[in-house]
Amino acid sequence: MGPIEKLMGKMVKQCRKPTGGFGRLIARSMNYGHSKVTRWGLSQVSINEEDMILDIGCGGGKTVNTLAKTATEGKTYGIDYSEISVAVASKTNKRFLDAGRVEILLGSVESLPFSDGFFDLVTAVEAYYFFPDLINNLKEIRRVLKSGGTIALINEAYRHDKFEKRNAKWARMGEFDYHSPEEFRKVLKDAGFSSIKIHTLEDKNWITAIGRKDEDSNNLHFNTSRQY
Ligand SMILES: C[S@@+](CC[C@H](N)C(=O)[O-])C[C@H]1O[C@@H](n2cnc3c(N)ncnc32)[C@H](O)[C@@H]1O
Repeated sequence: MGPIEKLMGKMVKQCRKPTGGFGRLIARSMNYGHSKVTRWGLSQVSINEEDMILDIGCGGGKTVNTLAKTATEGKTYGIDYSEISVAVASKTNKRFLDAGRVEILLGSVESLPFSDGFFDLVTAVEAYYFFPDLINNLKEIRRVLKSGGTIALINEAYRHDKFEKRNAKWARMGEFDYHSPEEFRKVLKDAGFSSIKIHTLEDKNWITAIGRKDEDSNNLHFNTSRQY
């Protein structure tokens, strides 16, 4: 492995769980690097002023900040299992934290420290790849959503022939998995979500996978920019 590949490997591993000074740098840089895909992904989701929102794997906290600016009458939470991410996200959101409009917590998607039916919206940007037990973790997210609440998984990479070589290399370096649009639909359905919508931007290989918690519905509707 050459020095560039080694550095890339280090960076991808830091994306999984930022640690130390390098992790701090990575968490800060993701605030900028992920802003376009985040803006695109969030544009597919309806957000109300009073919404209670959770961003999982909040990293440097830019998404939390963006969401808090929209949900002005609600509250936005960020959670991340990296102490460095929590520190950077807290700094990014200092003004909202002081005003009680944002909370940043240390914790894992595996066991969310919230009661059932707490949130209107749960987002995860560039984070689901690292969830250790995807279906069960999605079930845990569904638990903390209100009935009618929404999950939105926003990502810069999904399984597609055109990007397979690049994505496979990243996945190998970061030891994570990634999914096709059809697989996203299946995992969300298996976790109990309905009204599933999959939006993709094929030329960029971006994907936003959206599901709704409907207590008693297995209806799947597809209303997508590209339908699967
Ligand atoms: C690639 S970064 C994305 C950060 C941020 N969402 C963004 O878009 O810039 C992934 C983040 O997910 C966090 N993460 C990974 N696995 C997690 C888990 N099991 N529970 C909570 N956070 C997790 C990592 O610590 C990291 O901060």
